[in-house]
Amino acid sequence: MPSNPALFEAIAHRINTSAHHRIPFAEFMDLVLYHPEHGYYITGTALGPGGDFVTAPHLGHDFGELLGEQFAQMWQYLGQPRPFTLLEMGAGQGLVAADVLSHLERHHPECLAPLQYKIVEISGGLQKTQRQRLAAWGDRIEWVGWDAIAANSVIGCCFSNELVDALPVHQVVVTEAGLQEVYVTLGETGEAELRETLGPFSTPRIQEYFQDIGIHLSPPGYPVGYRTEVNLAALDWLSTVADRLQRGYVVTIDYGYATQRYYAPSRRQGTLQCYYRHGHHDDPYQYLGQQDITAHVNFTALERQGEQCGLTREGFTPQGLFLMALGLGDRIAAISETEAADTSALQQLLRRREALHQLINPLGMGNFGVLIQHKGMAAAPPLQGLMEPAPRPVPRR
Ligand SMILES: C[S@@+](CC[C@H](N)C(=O)[O-])C[C@H]1O[C@@H](n2cnc3c(N)ncnc32)[C@H](O)[C@@H]1O
Repeated sequence: MPSNPALFEAIAHRINTSAHHRIPFAEFMDLVLYHPEHGYYITGTALGPGGDFVTAPHLGHDFGELLGEQFAQMWQYLGQPRPFTLLEMGAGQGLVAADVLSHLERHHPECLAPLQYKIVEISGGLQKTQRQRLAAWGDRIEWVGWDAIAANSVIGCCFSNELVDALPVHQVVVTEAGLQEVYVTLGETGEAELRETLGPFSTPRIQEYFQDIGIHLSPPGYPVGYRTEVNLAALDWLSTVADRLQRGYVVTIDYGYATQRYYAPSRRQGTLQCYYRHGHHDDPYQYLGQQDITAHVNFTALERQGEQCGLTREGFTPQGLFLMALGLGDRIAAISETEAADTSALQQLLRRREALHQLINPLGMGNFGVLIQHKGMAAAPPLQGLMEPAPRPVPRR
């Protein structure tokens, strides 16, 4: 049964008014996550320890502060522009923005002075949370839609953490009759039930995408029943970002793989995951509007798309190494050297150490990817986050 009957009705209406009484999976995912009234993200209660999942900034201030360190260096490499724009896309509860801004205020006031912090956020509910959290920063922060940002106008850095995995994806399945797209339709029993059906591609872009990345999903290389995702929205999003950027960087942090791993024949069920109350499963038709649905990011596709839109690949590195290169190792070492005055202080130190380890854990967030692209830059030295972290003893757990 759907968990939100009003959302189910909206989806049913969309299906009933669509050709062949079915909608592509991507349209279904767009509705459950971003329906203007009932979408999972729109209500804005999803994130954090009290929601369904946590992201890096929920583990403490370190993630945002170390990003701030990287932004300060970018400002230098850009020749200290005034204004210097940080454009955060998909800002969640505004935690990263708060940590970046406080870090710049404390450690790089010269970079804070010319800073314009802009946020593009689709969710009214989350925008409200962001405005509350960031109220003290006044008009240094501006919430904008893409229409309000002129082409070729941004000098600075456009960045996102776990945005791209939340964009709606098309799903495809290998069949005896060739590659087909997954559609969502209504059950035949008249019950409030959704079911899947297969059909030809809803857009020629899916075919073009696989041609572009050189992947041919057909037997015998891929078994019948092989299912995977195509994130066309990510490509459109990156084109928009590239269009607005005049000079500077694009930093995309998320979980994902390069093409060959993404479409490995052994990954028979693709990467779609649903998150509900800190558990995960693979049924997107449960808890409609009350669970997150995500798909891993194909970083190679973002790199290729970037190249077509004037973005040059600066580098790609796992989040763990990125944060270590920016000083996370020093922070872990400082904890080890801190003496706790009492049990409560000791527990606090241990919790903090655990959180830092989570940020770099190679089996978790440490293995997220950090893709950095740039545009309009004369040769600049390598960014600190992409450099080899200084060798240091492996921290004890
Ligand atoms: C998984 S959350 C990550 C939030 C935050 N970056 C963090 O690290 O906690 C995804 C965020 O992207 C936003 N979002 C999703 N699609 C968007 C779009 N097309 N434009 C702007 N924001 C979007 C969501 O509302 C949410 O704030």
